[in-house]
Amino acid sequence: MEQSVFPKYTKAWLPYAAPAAAPSTPEEAARAELDNGLAHYGFARPVSLKTESLGEGYRIDASAEEIVIYGQGAGMLYGAFYLLRKIALGQEIVSETQQPEYALRMLNHWDNMDGTVERGYAGRSLFFEGSRFHYDPERLRFYGRLLSSVGINTITLNNVNVHPPAQHLIDDLLPEVVKIADLLRPYGIRLLLTVDFAAPTYNGLATADPLDETVIQWWKDRTAAIYQVIPDLAGFVVKADSEFRPGPITYGRNQAEGANVLARALKPFGGTLVWRCFVYNCRQDWRDQKTDRPCAAYNTFMPLDGQFDDNVLLQIKNGPVDFQVREPVSPLLLTLEKSNRALELQLAQEYTGQQIDLYYMQEMWQEIFDVLPRGNISAICSVTNLGRDENWAGHDLAMANLYAYGRLCWNPDCLKDDMAREWTQLTFGRNCAAVDEIARMLHSSRKTYQKYNAPLGIGFMVEPHVHYGPNPEGYEYSLWGTYMRADRNAIGIDRTAAGTGFTAQYPADLQKLYEDKSTCPEEMLLFFHRVPYDYVMEDGRTMVQRIYDDHFEGAEEAQALLESWKKLENQLPADVFARVLAKLEKQVVNARNWRDITNTYFHRYSGAEDAKGRVIYP
Ligand code: GCU
Repeated sequence: MEQSVFPKYTKAWLPYAAPAAAPSTPEEAARAELDNGLAHYGFARPVSLKTESLGEGYRIDASAEEIVIYGQGAGMLYGAFYLLRKIALGQEIVSETQQPEYALRMLNHWDNMDGTVERGYAGRSLFFEGSRFHYDPERLRFYGRLLSSVGINTITLNNVNVHPPAQHLIDDLLPEVVKIADLLRPYGIRLLLTVDFAAPTYNGLATADPLDETVIQWWKDRTAAIYQVIPDLAGFVVKADSEFRPGPITYGRNQAEGANVLARALKPFGGTLVWRCFVYNCRQDWRDQKTDRPCAAYNTFMPLDGQFDDNVLLQIKNGPVDFQVREPVSPLLLTLEKSNRALELQLAQEYTGQQIDLYYMQEMWQEIFDVLPRGNISAICSVTNLGRDENWAGHDLAMANLYAYGRLCWNPDCLKDDMAREWTQLTFGRNCAAVDEIARMLHSSRKTYQKYNAPLGIGFMVEPHVHYGPNPEGYEYSLWGTYMRADRNAIGIDRTAAGTGFTAQYPADLQKLYEDKSTCPEEMLLFFHRVPYDYVMEDGRTMVQRIYDDHFEGAEEAQALLESWKKLENQLPADVFARVLAKLEKQVVNARNWRDITNTYFHRYSGAEDAKGRVIYP
């Protein structure tokens, strides 16, 4: 339903007044942020801005009474936000220079033009409603400030699944896109357009075959026309040959042949072609034991390494399946050598609690970077968790993920710091009495969620399609390749050399680690191995007992999160307190459901009694 009045929205982690007038350049934005921010924090030293070309970086000279921020364009604005953050956190201001680690720091909206958001848990789209653009310009400026304050510099507006009329964002609807680009440009934010590989066929061509001369020319002409009006467009994003989307394979061509045609159209304008690697057979027969979904991306893209043009960026999900609660790092991120790679994360909590359950992601990202050499990727992208809800992310505390994500893209070293605490201090005030408790809750939340969710890396025990709530065999006989093949003795797919051979896709050290049950990290045991229920874990418990224990503990911990929150009532704004309370109450119900359904499922199959005699429903 269309909303005639735009809802109010929180200031998130930017508590001071937004600039009164819309800035027209990042330099103007920087000055306005400083004026309001310094006054808000009561900072007495003078701060000036000076132009120096440092790319997107900035330099702070704090050697004299007057602090000088040197930078140019977005760099100057980043410098201003950085200084304000340090002031807000009460940190010492020192002379230093900062540069972002990755040039493309991207946020992907999966927004549809009807106003819905695919896997969106924070209300309707910030950009669209009723098949047209529909937004609050003030709010979009605030959105630009939020992103810019943590260094995110590129966004897509529309879903990777391009639903009508979004295929026309690159032609008929382009003038509206231009307005958004203009609005966000002063915040250093550039647009990527998500395009449909079959776009030429929507425009009168008989085919979208990437090797057809008329198709090649069509992409060149269309791209040139777009750059006429958005000269700083970052490029295109494409989901091709994936979950029913058209792609080069549809026309008998390979992924590189398809990607390069679009990349060559973008090349003269400095654009990047972001090409998603989420390609697998989504029409699998569960009876087929040979096809193993995690193998798919590597099998498709590895043979093409070296064939992608230099302005193609292969966007690879962090795990080889699909944003599950626990997956190993995608082998493709580790093994491609001659292709540019972007790490794709998902802030939208599709499988991780849908912004009802608390799930803070910093530790998950740390685990990825423990395995992934930083230089292996040249960009980071994430599916956003934002929508039109008053608090932006549906769950007030889920904004900590967006904050930490931006900081991660700027420099993964931030993972060594307590981003949860920083976010809490910025949002609720440095001296807010609830800071320690909220930071603790955030940091414990992922372990808690994992305990009551699908166990030990098995994944996909969720309610089909909605992906919230337990349904152990919901995907077992589906077409999506998401099987675990439980029987009365064992569960899991053997992905070692003796099984589907998936482990062979990893570099030697990881292959060795995962290949053997005794060295495989227990959190991922059931991802890599088929394991009998009475398998003895490191600490002497059987595998099934570990599952029972985790599920009882997880539900208790969810309850404890709620109790912790209740104690914060007088330390937080009443509306924030009430909103989060309502979410935590739902989380407790969800955790209980997961506990009981999962434990009953395993009890029925294994027949194993709980060593502690707790209630497992028959
Ligand atoms: C998941 C998700 C889809 C999404 C897809 C993608 O499968 O459930 O909604 O379209 O990922 O990343 O393209």
